[in-house]
Amino acid sequence: MKKIALIGCTGNIGQKVVDAVRCYPEKFCFSALVCGKNRDALHALQEEFHPPLAFCAADGALPLDEIFSSCDIAFLAPSGFAGLEYALAAARQGKVIALSNKESLVAGGELLMKEVKDRGATLIPVDSEHSAIFQALSCRLDTPFKKLILTASGGPFLRLSKEELEHVTPKDALRHPTYAMGRKITIDSATMLNKGYEVIEAKWLFSTTFEKIETLVHPESIVHSLVCFEDGATIAEMGYPDMRVPVRLALTYPERLPCGEDLDLTKLQTLHFEQLDKEKFPCFTLALEAGKSGGTAPAALNGAAEVAVDAFLKGGISFPKIAEIILYALDKTPIAQADAFETVKAADQLARAHAKRYLYDL
Ligand SMILES: NC(=O)c1ccc[n+]([C@@H]2O[C@H](COP(=O)([O-])OP(=O)(O)OC[C@H]3O[C@@H](n4cnc5c(N)ncnc54)[C@H](OP(=O)(O)O)[C@@H]3O)[C@@H](O)[C@H]2O)c1
Repeated sequence: MKKIALIGCTGNIGQKVVDAVRCYPEKFCFSALVCGKNRDALHALQEEFHPPLAFCAADGALPLDEIFSSCDIAFLAPSGFAGLEYALAAARQGKVIALSNKESLVAGGELLMKEVKDRGATLIPVDSEHSAIFQALSCRLDTPFKKLILTASGGPFLRLSKEELEHVTPKDALRHPTYAMGRKITIDSATMLNKGYEVIEAKWLFSTTFEKIETLVHPESIVHSLVCFEDGATIAEMGYPDMRVPVRLALTYPERLPCGEDLDLTKLQTLHFEQLDKEKFPCFTLALEAGKSGGTAPAALNGAAEVAVDAFLKGGISFPKIAEIILYALDKTPIAQADAFETVKAADQLARAHAKRYLYDL
């Protein structure tokens, strides 16, 4: 019986973990459940699963060491920068970490990977692209490869012109063509910031360089990513878009549980691949440049993006303004070495303040 400490238990990914535990009560149980602010949903889960520990982050500081101390697997599915503190705490205890929260690697990749290495923790990717790469690498993070190719659905605005993007609404942006996800990641998929995040995530997870990571738009979302090897072989993981598959694999790998629908290639017939339009989606390049700058730049990028996306969702700014706000905040936030949590958090906070200032001046 595997004991899971689940952070973000009320969210889109968290609920997929809950479903796995519901379907396989003989295999899994919860040692801890943590939500952000939805106390009612947390109480319902407590009634159903009786975890020894349950917390709502909005109630105040959490006993992170206690939350992870008795778990076999820390499943990290909170949204946003908050994920980094959980990831560092789980890594400090040398835990197996199923990492869905990508912001922890984007904002604090250097810090987190050091903690993972020093404490002998294990990271298991949950993001579908990184899970695909992990599978193509025989469920290892250290298998040698020549190149990684991350695929992107292209989001809801793939075929819109730059001019048309001026007029899209939050409702339009929340209509993702292939995945139902939380609101922040859905908007990030529409701006392609999410794909930039995933490149940074892949760099850290697979200990590689930006030069060895490519991205391709693949609107059908059937090929979840590919790995090219020295001998010319390319291995892709394919399946219908269904996040339950990487979520469950992270809980059981290398064992697999019955879950998704079998892929019928005769029904699909054709798969399409094309280059990402970087001019139309500047957030992708902003993320990549922040990743290449290193230090606290990606933390600043993420802090500004969280403010900008929130403003867009509230109807306060147009879709293209998201990139403008990120660029403004990045320019104003000096880059420091990302060698301590406090420094990373300071960059996050400063970038948020600059982004808010920009909004205030609008
Ligand atoms: N959804 C996907 O298909 C998908 C795919 C790949 C990667 N991811 C990544 O997985 C993470 C979660 O995404 P999601 O789509 O599941 O988001 P979501 O539906 O918005 O859920 C977010 C979860 O985080 C919780 N939360 C917020 N702040 C917290 C805090 N300070 N401490 C603990 N929990 C907190 C929320 O609790 P409340 O409900 O109580 O507010 C909720 O349970 C993100 O980093 C995202 O990028 C998601």
